[in-house]
Amino acid sequence: MSNLRIPTLTRRAFIASATAVSAGAMFTLESNARAASVREFRLRAGFGRAQITPEPHGDTAVWCYDGSLPGPEIRVRQKERLRIVVENALDEETTAHWHGVRVPNAMDGVPHLTQAPIPPGETFTYAFEAVDAGTFWYHPHQRSFEQVGRGLYGPLVVEEAEPIRVDRDVTWMLSDWRLTETAEMREDFGNLHDAMHNGRVGNTVTINGRVPDYFPVRKGERIRLRLINAANARIFGLDFADLDPVVIAFDGQPVEPHVPEGGLVVLGPAMRADIILDMTADAGNRTSVVDRFYEGLAYRLVDFVYDDQPLRKTVPDWPLVLAANPLPEPDVASAIRHEVTFNGGMMGAMVMQEMGDMDEGSSGAMGNMTGGMGSMTDMMHSGKIWFINGVAAEGHIMDPMLTLTRGKSHVVAMTNATAWHHPMHLHGHSFRVISRNGQPTRYREWQDTVLMAPRERVEIAFVADNPGNWMFHCHILEHQAAGMMGVFRVARPHPLKGEPKCERS
Ligand code: C2O
Ligand code: CU
Repeated sequence: MSNLRIPTLTRRAFIASATAVSAGAMFTLESNARAASVREFRLRAGFGRAQITPEPHGDTAVWCYDGSLPGPEIRVRQKERLRIVVENALDEETTAHWHGVRVPNAMDGVPHLTQAPIPPGETFTYAFEAVDAGTFWYHPHQRSFEQVGRGLYGPLVVEEAEPIRVDRDVTWMLSDWRLTETAEMREDFGNLHDAMHNGRVGNTVTINGRVPDYFPVRKGERIRLRLINAANARIFGLDFADLDPVVIAFDGQPVEPHVPEGGLVVLGPAMRADIILDMTADAGNRTSVVDRFYEGLAYRLVDFVYDDQPLRKTVPDWPLVLAANPLPEPDVASAIRHEVTFNGGMMGAMVMQEMGDMDEGSSGAMGNMTGGMGSMTDMMHSGKIWFINGVAAEGHIMDPMLTLTRGKSHVVAMTNATAWHHPMHLHGHSFRVISRNGQPTRYREWQDTVLMAPRERVEIAFVADNPGNWMFHCHILEHQAAGMMGVFRVARPHPLKGEPKCERS
């Protein structure tokens, strides 16, 4: 699996890993004596090859964890502690971010902000508790547009203390690749055109690292399907034909079980949905899952193919409701309000003008932008294409754009003054999506990544209970790289003397 590009271990790295091993042994002994709930994992980010497209195409050079695409599924029980040694066998720096897991700030895997990036040949040990049950994933936060885009990602599943009953629990990690006719990776990562439009949308969609053909099922079977969108930029809108996909969780967090509008399960990059599928067709049938998110570009993703032997005659009536995770409930009435506006991208100026007359609240930030249209064009040429409250970020070293009082409820009102979709992600917290374009949402769903349509206004609410500096960014990784990120600092208003302010390791 691995190839010749793996750097040989330096003496320094050898010492580092030897230390890690002995520390690990001590840790295990100690934890055996106290609580037996520490789960140890090791992940090696490196080079590999994967059979993405079906034969007779050859395999594709990828970057991946442990030589497998996707990386190994990390599966633990809620409240277990994880200890994950991440080894960097790439030839550039990396980190690992546990997307959607409410970890302590120092374990969040953001280079320069929460840790020094892991140099090639070295390791970093992440330790945190699985506080929430649900479907999560891991990926690097260093040059993610290329590292994730080449295949560095894997699922992280936290099982409920009492899982709901299903016949099969299945993870589908969706991704999207831009390949050549001979199944080689197109090397045009980070180009300006992708950054200004809808990101690196590819030409080859995979489930668990392979172009799927069919998925065998049985009549009467109940499947819990954990969908994870690991693509850089592609948004999925999955249509399950005559099956009713019942969503029971978004982004790992339970939601009132429901069939989404039009039966379409929409997943922006980084988003997850746990759905229950009762397989209702007769033996020998086929049901196609079609992705119809982009107008006029629908394609068949995969077919469910029914086995000759039904499992049972009728669908089971087992309960669907998941137990809630221990999330603090925001008090919207007393919440502190913040306004955040997104600008930029292709046709950004046009949308800003349209919306500028429309909305008073966000005209401040947009006013600045429209005022300096000449300089905005200049900035675009320098690779700063997307702006949050008028600022395009560069790298991960930045001052916080908002300081959120720790322990208080906050509402962040976001305005998408661009012509593009953006899946906006906040680290360290889950938030309730409370309104869209002024209308309260029906399910007040908890998410960590919320998909915003062009010109849409979305309000989110949460208690800022996790101290530290947290990334807030678009998960279209080309947008993130071209400026669409910022930092929310969660802190007490006036730190006492001698109190650590924001942990940096
Ligand atoms: Cu999935 Cu900031 O990341
Ligand atoms: Cu975006």
